[in-house]
Amino acid sequence: MPAWGALFLLWAVVEATKDCPSSCTCQPLETMGLWVDCIGQGLTALPTLPAHTRHLLLTNNSLHEVPPGAFDHLPQLQTLEVTQNPWHCDCTLTYLRLWLEDHAPETLQYVVCASPSLVAARPLGQLTGYELGNCGWQLQTPWASPGTWWDVALVAVGILGLALLAGLLCTTSRFQNQAWSRNP
Ligand SMILES: *[C@@H]1O[C@H](CO)[C@@H](O)[C@H](O)[C@H]1NC(C)=O
Repeated sequence: MPAWGALFLLWAVVEATKDCPSSCTCQPLETMGLWVDCIGQGLTALPTLPAHTRHLLLTNNSLHEVPPGAFDHLPQLQTLEVTQNPWHCDCTLTYLRLWLEDHAPETLQYVVCASPSLVAARPLGQLTGYELGNCGWQLQTPWASPGTWWDVALVAVGILGLALLAGLLCTTSRFQNQAWSRNP
């Protein structure tokens, strides 16, 4: 066996056993990633996943939520299977929805919400932004931003300046007129 083959095997075995969550089985792929199988383990929370996770199977668990950003440290993650979980489809699940929209939009119709009652039994992919809620994020109204107040203040100062200048000009020209009329 060539040396790189032996090295790869060693790497694969170390990676597969090192960070594998206790309730999952991990298998190295020839493409240097990991196949992480956590199907039907009764998981109620996302386990801590190995950095090289490429395919992640979470089917048939008791997962309610995916913390926003949960897959950001898994750059190799390509497939994610999350069906058959009692998803609580509120604003925090927006992260999962966007991840699936980006990587596997066809699976979104099979990811079904269990709660809240407004969206129970509906596929995550069908929910509107209103139904998911916005977690209190709000677009800043233009009048509330400090930048706008600065602009308003600048315009006010400008107008005041112009008014003063105009007043000054009027006064000087009146003086001049008076001077003219006194000394024709
Ligand atoms: C889901 O997992 C449970 C164990 O948590 C198992 O008993 C059940 O048969 C599984 N269901 C399916 C459809 O695979």
